[in-house]
Amino acid sequence: MENLEQLKKRIEEREFQTAVIGLGYVGLPLALSFAQEGFPVSGLDKDPQKVKALNEGKSYLDDIPCNQVEEALKRGFSATTRESEALAGADAVFICVPTPLTQTKDPDLSYVISAGKSVARYLKLGELVVLVSTTYPGTTEEVLLPLLQKGGRKAGAHFYLSFSPERVDPGNKIYRLRNTPKVVGGVTAACTELAAFLLSKIVDKVIPVSSPRVAEMSKLLENTYRVVNISLVNELAQLCRRMKVNVWEVIEAASTKPYGFTPFYPGPGMGGHCIPIDPFYLSWKARAYDFNLRFVELAGEINDSMPYFVVDLVTEALNREGKSLKDSRILVLGVAYKQNIGDLRESPALKIIPLLEEREAQVEYCDPLVPSLELEDRALTSLPLSDKPWKGADCVLLLTAHRVFPYQEIAQESRLIVDTRNAFQGLEGNIVRL
Ligand SMILES: NC(=O)c1ccc[n+]([C@@H]2O[C@H](COP(=O)([O-])OP(=O)(O)OC[C@H]3O[C@@H](n4cnc5c(N)ncnc54)[C@H](O)[C@@H]3O)[C@@H](O)[C@H]2O)c1
Repeated sequence: MENLEQLKKRIEEREFQTAVIGLGYVGLPLALSFAQEGFPVSGLDKDPQKVKALNEGKSYLDDIPCNQVEEALKRGFSATTRESEALAGADAVFICVPTPLTQTKDPDLSYVISAGKSVARYLKLGELVVLVSTTYPGTTEEVLLPLLQKGGRKAGAHFYLSFSPERVDPGNKIYRLRNTPKVVGGVTAACTELAAFLLSKIVDKVIPVSSPRVAEMSKLLENTYRVVNISLVNELAQLCRRMKVNVWEVIEAASTKPYGFTPFYPGPGMGGHCIPIDPFYLSWKARAYDFNLRFVELAGEINDSMPYFVVDLVTEALNREGKSLKDSRILVLGVAYKQNIGDLRESPALKIIPLLEEREAQVEYCDPLVPSLELEDRALTSLPLSDKPWKGADCVLLLTAHRVFPYQEIAQESRLIVDTRNAFQGLEGNIVRL
């Protein structure tokens, strides 16, 4: 078996076959970064459509232009649905599969386990395995390690195993994979060292930590910190409304403090694949230690209440105009979970639209980045922005502040606007703010 120095030498010389399992928001940029740096890379995904698109030089992610995929293909990147093709002969494997919650809000590690079993089938001497998927502290050592150690192989001696969380922020133009520091913690010191060495070829700064648990917990601290703070301002927004204080002005004023304060902003509820989900991985694990993570539970409760609060806002606003929500025409502007991207995962719009419909409002939506969306029982299609759909609505409900919306025009031409993002700040019109 090659020693650490020999493996590093092959990394240096780019003779290190890299495989990425799961070519989604996290795995695809990672695979393309390795290809860009001259590593031979194969991507494994069980979705044949994604694999086909990539091999044809097409991208399915807003953030990744097709020419980046084409460039990677020229440099030797390929995608496949066949695990033997990607994993047999790999020197390093990165696992970037989903980590969702079950219906009862427990961690669903089935994707990680399935990927781990695939890696175990092809594991060779000296291979590096890195779990990237966000998960609870202990997963790498308690779940993945036993799968890989079957047959008497030992981490640190026969193969290397680390955890290195991803911090990708879809739509962020400043912080990309290269300039976002990457934390890595291995099962042994050699595991950390090898993973850190390889990652340092695609990331400017790698932060080694003492164990996978520290790395796993650090990712959950980052996300829990966001969840708790967003929930805090969401609760404050509800109080401010009752007290007739403008919460946006409050946050702006507080943000002038040059130290010790980071602004977070209220909204119609949290969305995305990470923020509403990951902290529940931590609270689930905490229960195994007879520990109740109250901040996370409370934050979840407040977050879950926001869509109802928004529906109440719309109802009140229409009431003031002498109208009822029933039979009113509501135009939802923006349905993606955050601005300027087309990602619908866990978007609050998916809760708010059915709530409005339950109260017999007539709801349509306009989001140029989300041409159609699936509700439980049917699909909706976005109204074209060029038709100025706000003109016919009794109430425009702004949920996502995409930059493509002509705010001034909408403010002037709408009968009533409920703005959950302060997107109409400074504009004249009949505007009710969260
Ligand atoms: N999206 C983000 O912004 C973000 C940020 C940081 C961390 N994460 C974490 O990264 C992980 C991946 O998230 P994502 O957003 O990339 O998910 P995603 O759904 O975009 O991509 C996951 C991909 O894995 C594939 N897949 C699932 N099981 C597989 C298997 N056994 N073999 C091969 N392919 C398989 C799916 O087909 C899919 O293409 C999650 O744990 C998530 O919490 C996501």
